[in-house]
Amino acid sequence: MKHRDQIRQIAKKVNKSGQRSEMREKALPADEVMAILERTRERDYSYDRFLSTMCTRPHPIAIKAHDMFLETNLGDPGLFPGVAGLEEEVVRMLGELLGCPLARGYISTGGTESNIQAIRAAKNESGKCGGNIVVPASAHFSFDKIGDLLSLEVRKAELDSQLRVDLSSVESLIDEHTAALVGIAGTTEFGQVDPIEELSDLALEWGVHLHVDAAFGGFVLPFLDRSFAWDFSLPGVKSITIDPHKMGLATIPAGGLLFRNQECMNALETETHYLTKARQASLTGTRSGAAAAATYAVMMHLGREGFREMVGYCMDLTDHLVRGAKEIGVEPLIEPVMNVVALRVPEPSKVRERLMDRDWHVSITREPNRALRLILMGHMSHENVDLFLKDLKEVLSEFV
Ligand SMILES: Cc1ncc(COP(=O)(O)O)c(C=O)c1O
Repeated sequence: MKHRDQIRQIAKKVNKSGQRSEMREKALPADEVMAILERTRERDYSYDRFLSTMCTRPHPIAIKAHDMFLETNLGDPGLFPGVAGLEEEVVRMLGELLGCPLARGYISTGGTESNIQAIRAAKNESGKCGGNIVVPASAHFSFDKIGDLLSLEVRKAELDSQLRVDLSSVESLIDEHTAALVGIAGTTEFGQVDPIEELSDLALEWGVHLHVDAAFGGFVLPFLDRSFAWDFSLPGVKSITIDPHKMGLATIPAGGLLFRNQECMNALETETHYLTKARQASLTGTRSGAAAAATYAVMMHLGREGFREMVGYCMDLTDHLVRGAKEIGVEPLIEPVMNVVALRVPEPSKVRERLMDRDWHVSITREPNRALRLILMGHMSHENVDLFLKDLKEVLSEFV
């Protein structure tokens, strides 16, 4: 009997006896548990057809490193000085990549945690209670969570015709109660880069913290042919979110949070009376060292050259997709800056549904810029982009 059939049979047996829904009294042999897990995993979709996600299959070396450090806990670093040292190395490499070799920070669970922590630091530093933050209308929904968690009003600045934040709108929203400004380097929906240089000037002028959310773009922008001013080389930038578990090819959950200096990071610290280190700045207490090890492994193994190659491949796919889309009469909302494409299609939600029927996982952008949103990650191939375009053409023919 084939391995797969064997698994099915075992899983069926277990399911039949109703043992899935409650905590068992008796132990279940490991092979039976694994059979259930393998069968369950088969229900997950495959990355090959994902055009909606900013995550991807981790690099094989990330998986090895993750497994090796699985039981480590960076929440109690004195017990795990090895992996704590790796995290410091990662922060140093990221700081150097982002124009500030002396940056401080840590490996978080992802973009949401990094954004929460950056704004928490800004709020604590400013000493402003019940204040506000000014974010672009294109900001990730994590900023709505932040408003709720930190009791801050989230003011959303309008976008210009290129879907970058409009500076005059930002200026009209800042006031003496503003705790932070946010700029995005690689917006979730359009892959656009806000005018961070001008935001940096504004932040300095008002004496407020400028946080740059580069959760997606952080591992893209340094490796593009085109160069942008967006990182710590701009004096107003106080913190940056950069996610290894997106374009950094690390395992989930790996987020990165960097501060320009220790002073900013101090604003997050609490005393940790029973642990090996007296103070802690991270949001979560117990946190796996696996993500830091995985990030370290990928950064060391690929080097700048490897990342340039990977980003180059994604940009090639992006160009290929946009060229093909234009050939069938579909235009992007903006010429892509990075490997994120928003295509202007009629009734985007319905088009999305039809594409999902054909096993393509795509997403859509928000009003007032509704479009079909596609992310060209390294797991995609030119062949699949061609198949997707063929299906898109057929789907769109239903809408004329
Ligand atoms: C720009 C940006 N910031 C933050 C996030 C949130 O990241 P996570 O899902 O890792 O919490 C995302 C997710 O796509 C993002 O695109």
